[in-house]
Amino acid sequence: MTTALITGSTAGIGAAFARRLAADGHNLVLVARDTKRLTEQATELHDRHGIEAEVLTADLATDDGIDAVAARLRNRTNPVDLLINNAGFGNKGRYLDVPMSDELRMIKVHIEAVLRLTSAATGAMRERGRGGVVNVASVAAFVPRGTYGASKAWVVQFTQGVARDLAGSGVRLMALCPGFVRTEFHQRAGMGTDNIPNWMWLDADKLVAAALADLDRGKTLSVPDPRYKALTGLAKVAPHGLLGGVTSKTGRKYGPQ
Ligand SMILES: NC(=O)c1ccc[n+]([C@@H]2O[C@H](COP(=O)([O-])OP(=O)(O)OC[C@H]3O[C@@H](n4cnc5c(N)ncnc54)[C@H](OP(=O)(O)O)[C@@H]3O)[C@@H](O)[C@H]2O)c1
Repeated sequence: MTTALITGSTAGIGAAFARRLAADGHNLVLVARDTKRLTEQATELHDRHGIEAEVLTADLATDDGIDAVAARLRNRTNPVDLLINNAGFGNKGRYLDVPMSDELRMIKVHIEAVLRLTSAATGAMRERGRGGVVNVASVAAFVPRGTYGASKAWVVQFTQGVARDLAGSGVRLMALCPGFVRTEFHQRAGMGTDNIPNWMWLDADKLVAAALADLDRGKTLSVPDPRYKALTGLAKVAPHGLLGGVTSKTGRKYGPQ
């Protein structure tokens, strides 16, 4: 049995990773801020799949939260074999409408936490000669999309760079770039979703299945779903002005759902 640690495990994509990894027989360390929700999730996954599920309450927008999760990842007696850096959020509004404190909080969760947790995990994994890290980015990494897209572009570049540095060590890293997924993300960010066409929505469980298959294949970048593979291919060749016009509108209708 191996152990996987998932940040942001209680909802959306993180919860889909937890369901799938538990069903596959992995023990879990579940990380988020809401202890009650974490405890209910741990009990449910233990009862359904017979796995051990630890609860680790941590706010990854704080140094204490990042330190606590990093310490768990460095634990040599009860090692973590797979880290899913998934916790993340969107801010409501365009640049200059978003308070600077919220922009900085995003950089803390999307960049600093991912950097420090990846380092803690891969240091211990390299000693054992095996392990994996999935860093959840977004297709927003490939288009002009404010601090959110920029932070996810960092996740992609960072992950692929570290994967190269650790090649041959037995430690695999992969950046996962989902398109729109039906989760709590948009509601939490106060984003309306009615201007996102139905065909653009992905199912979290299918996304996770495709991501884990890509990790098994040794990919360092996963864009699960042919629709988004085509769109990200297009993003590489489309004129930036056109791309900016389209992508700054889609999924960025702020206000009630
Ligand atoms: N949904 C999409 O369309 C989409 C598309 C591309 C990429 N993504 C990325 O996928 C990842 C997961 O998003 P999701 O859509 O599944 O969102 P979600 O449904 O809102 O779930 C977010 C999870 O992260 C946790 N979380 C949020 N802030 C945290 C913090 N400061 N410290 C610790 N945990 C925190 C939440 O639990 P607590 O509130 O209890 O902490 C929750 O478990 C994010 O990185 C997001 O950027 C999402």
